[in-house]
Amino acid sequence: MEDVLRQWGGEYALTAYDEPSGAYMFIAVHSTRLGPGAGGTRMKTYATPGDGLLDACRLAEAMTLKMAVAGLPMGGAKSVLAVPGELDPEVRRNLLLRHGRNVHALGGAYRTGPDMNTNSADMDTLNEVTPYAFGRSVANGGSGSSAPDTAVGVFHGIVASVAHAFGSADLTGRRVLVQGAGAVGGPLAEMLVKAGAHVIVSDVSLERVEALYDTLGVEVVAPASEFDTECDVYAPCATGGVLDATTIPRLRCRIVAGAANNPLSQRSDGELLRAAGILYAPDFVINAGGGIHLIGYEALGWTTEQVEAHLIGIGTTLTEIYRAADAEGISTEEAAERVAHARLAVGPSPS
Ligand code: NAI
Ligand code: PHE
Repeated sequence: MEDVLRQWGGEYALTAYDEPSGAYMFIAVHSTRLGPGAGGTRMKTYATPGDGLLDACRLAEAMTLKMAVAGLPMGGAKSVLAVPGELDPEVRRNLLLRHGRNVHALGGAYRTGPDMNTNSADMDTLNEVTPYAFGRSVANGGSGSSAPDTAVGVFHGIVASVAHAFGSADLTGRRVLVQGAGAVGGPLAEMLVKAGAHVIVSDVSLERVEALYDTLGVEVVAPASEFDTECDVYAPCATGGVLDATTIPRLRCRIVAGAANNPLSQRSDGELLRAAGILYAPDFVINAGGGIHLIGYEALGWTTEQVEAHLIGIGTTLTEIYRAADAEGISTEEAAERVAHARLAVGPSPS
């Protein structure tokens, strides 16, 4: 844990232990340079509490980059509730309420929202003790799930990536492998099928792939065979950390462009992808649709048209990053980080 904090460079990380659930609780605020720290609450089981803290810190840092590149007036933060396993509903609810009170104690310096294994109903629970939760249910005055708009943003990002790699934005017949048929992967697969792509799906949940097979007629591959499956685009939409020195050499795709946060095990993996001739859409650029939805509707009062324009903008931003990376002979990860750091150096735009 000491090493994680020493090497991180964020503003602060709050920690607590919740006796009834056995969960370690982390709130990592990486940067408030551009506005209050924003980032979801992830509920997950980790091998050690230190792994949970590391995840919170790395995800918070990615949120700083995401907000900066998307031009959203927020900083980067994340919470992790590192649970020992599945929780009894009442114990889970009390853990969320305690987390909500911790979020509230920060007085708005940190705004949370849904992330892996938390949803709009959970944000409604947090809202019982704090107003600082994006993504409450529509019935409770929120903007609902961010996942469908995340999928829209990823779709625009895939179109831009295909245009850059192949010289045409047409998806007809392009083989796109969507790893994870969840809240983002499902609607993404549907949009891709509608655009004429040949969609291949994998998921550890047989039920989820079967649903997409039945409704969309997608091809199905077994989990873990994504890396060896020939395709034009590999879209990781499940967990992070899927790309590393062992999986990258196995990839048989031209593009990696998906929703998963932190798909690279480490930053230098961006360079490995470049060396392998694979165009990589940096996660914090292509998956900004969720933040655009939550912050656009709930903090900035945007209309649907404004949100849609910003989702389309994800494709434009990626194209600019690809051109900059080509011109400078650097990885797309590096080019995207430069955009973020330039915005962070300037500071918040006057409102
Ligand atoms: P989800 O939990 O609804 O879906 C994830 C799916 O991946 C599930 O169906 C699960 O069974 C499957 N899965 C898990 N491990 C797998 C593996 N090893 N191989 C194949 N499938 C596997 O999550 P959601 O909301 O769709 O998010 C997907 C990813 O996108 C996550 O990494 C999340 O952090 C990221 N993301 C989500 C946003 C949102 O608005 N929901 C916004 C930005 C990023
Ligand atoms: N957890 C999502 C993400 O990683 C959505 C989110 C964005 C939640 C901003 C809170 C704040 O982008």
